[in-house]
Amino acid sequence: MAETPHEEETLGKAFEPRLVRRLFSLARPYRRYASGAVVVLLLESFAQLASPLLTAAAIDLLFSKEKTGAGGAARGVDGFFRFFGVDLHAGHGIEWIAALSILMATFAFVFMMVMVWWTSTMGQGVMFDLRTRIFAHLQQADIALYDRTPVGRLMTRLTTDVDALNELFTSGFVALLGDVAVLAGIVAILFTLDTTLAAITFAILLPMLWVTNWFRKGARDTYRDVRVKIARVNAFLQEHISGIGIVQLFRREAVARQRFAEVNDAHRKANIDSIFYYSVFYPALDFLSAVGMGSIVWYGGGEVIRGRMTLGAVVAFLQYSKRFYRPLMDLSEKYNILQAAMASSERIFQLLDERPSITAPEHPVVPEEPLRGDVAFEDVRFSYTAGEEILKGVSFHVEPGRTVALVGATGAGKSTILNLLLRFYDVTGGRVLVDGTDVRRYDPVDLRKHFGIVLQDTFLFTGTIADNVSFFDPEMARARIEEACLEVGLGPLLARIPGGLDAKLSERGGGLSVGEKQLVAFARALARDPRVLILDEATSSVDPETERTIERAVERVLAGRTSIVVAHRLSTIVRADRILVLSHGEVKESGTHAELLAEDGLYARLYALQLKDREAAA
Ligand SMILES: Nc1ncnc2c1ncn2[C@@H]1O[C@H](COP(=O)(O)OP(=O)(O)O)[C@@H](O)[C@H]1O
Ligand SMILES: [Mg+2]
Repeated sequence: MAETPHEEETLGKAFEPRLVRRLFSLARPYRRYASGAVVVLLLESFAQLASPLLTAAAIDLLFSKEKTGAGGAARGVDGFFRFFGVDLHAGHGIEWIAALSILMATFAFVFMMVMVWWTSTMGQGVMFDLRTRIFAHLQQADIALYDRTPVGRLMTRLTTDVDALNELFTSGFVALLGDVAVLAGIVAILFTLDTTLAAITFAILLPMLWVTNWFRKGARDTYRDVRVKIARVNAFLQEHISGIGIVQLFRREAVARQRFAEVNDAHRKANIDSIFYYSVFYPALDFLSAVGMGSIVWYGGGEVIRGRMTLGAVVAFLQYSKRFYRPLMDLSEKYNILQAAMASSERIFQLLDERPSITAPEHPVVPEEPLRGDVAFEDVRFSYTAGEEILKGVSFHVEPGRTVALVGATGAGKSTILNLLLRFYDVTGGRVLVDGTDVRRYDPVDLRKHFGIVLQDTFLFTGTIADNVSFFDPEMARARIEEACLEVGLGPLLARIPGGLDAKLSERGGGLSVGEKQLVAFARALARDPRVLILDEATSSVDPETERTIERAVERVLAGRTSIVVAHRLSTIVRADRILVLSHGEVKESGTHAELLAEDGLYARLYALQLKDREAAA
């Protein structure tokens, strides 16, 4: 499904106090790294700032012979060194400068390394925690969330959105602070050196800020557009790769290619639009900084000639101005990081804030051990979306150990009944009772463990056959797994497949036939020996031999437990203690096969039209 862009692509502010507070709380376990990184970063900025001063000092020292004639009053950088108790003119000045340069470079190197290490540790830690939290959250979320949200979008929360936050923690917050420190340091040094020249240096800032603002707005809009377009490319690819079989079967390759070319082209155009801003922005800043440096040369050079300033001081100005403009350019990039991170965190928090409505009550009733397995629906009403009632007052009762078969046309509400019994959703009216107690009074986790479930399409996970039967439960004895497999008729498969129980299944049970996958699901249910069995029979037909194996498996699995079966097989239906005929969310008929045939109603028609033929085919 194509993602709806408007929800996905809102890019708000770059700084949202409410979100920033929560983001900081995520980093709280790593606050030592964070504060350490800030300290180290300030030291590193300091070391960085020293280098132009040292160059200036060296130049002035080398040209000091000429300078003395012109008058010692010229403004230079000596003052900074005297401030730290170093007199460069007292001999060994050059050695001092060289040693200090190396020392500062060493500091910068070590501090930078430590800072990157610490911020990355923090970023990775936050990412790990966040992914763990989101995954845990998704596991206990209402099934309804998955009805509303495309899987692709939830994946984006866990991947891209979390990555955006990592960038914020590794190169956002701390680096931003470093930039601010460097900028402030430069402003202080330059104004100390020469007020007029400093003013000239910073005059160029106005046009720079204007260009940056223009870029920021344009880049934001185009960035948003690029995201919309790439989301469409992703959605299209996801659909067409999963559905490749259908595409090939219907010979739709050319059409799919054509449609892909369109979304792909839209993405290219969006990117080219955004590149326009980048292609103007960086050269424009380079140009402006060149103008700024030209002004420094013009005024500063004049001052040197007039003997009011040392050559070293002008060189220092040039170097500082270069260092000043750089973080400004980075700043707009950081702005993008911030903005993306805010948007991502907004979406992540929104997901995390969604409280599940299917939860345990404060004082849950503990189900009897073993569960008797008495199931009843009392005038149950239900709608997935408000105003569209899917179940319109369904009532029935299944005594412990009995089997009820639900039959009816597609869309009648059969699977919905199972969903309510499992408490994947809560009823909108009436009650669902298990052992005489409303299911809402149990802890859903406690309740579900008494249920065995085999649903229409079998979902197998990556792992071995044994893993899928035990469902990665290390407590389950191997003998039990094997027994369950043999009982449902997986024996021949286990004998044939290399590795037997330990045969690796690829994603979603690739390598097994539809029938074999169903049998694995039966074994999974049987191995747990549940009191209540829920079966939504698959409608896909299998070969007659597999069909007989499955019939036997169904019989075996249902034996002795309360069973609610959405039945398509005549054999299952005939064997049921009671058949409920559903139509448009209502129970229209109820009775045994013989009774309902005698009634000559809906069921009799269904039997004549469908079930009899299926019996003949099998
Ligand atoms: N998750 C859902 N969200 C909204 N409507 C749903 C959902 N699942 C099923 N429905 C609707 O509820 C009705 C009954 O569906 P279902 O119980 O699956 O029917 P059956 O299993 O009898 O074929 C159908 O009209 C279907 O479109
Ligand atoms: Mg169904």
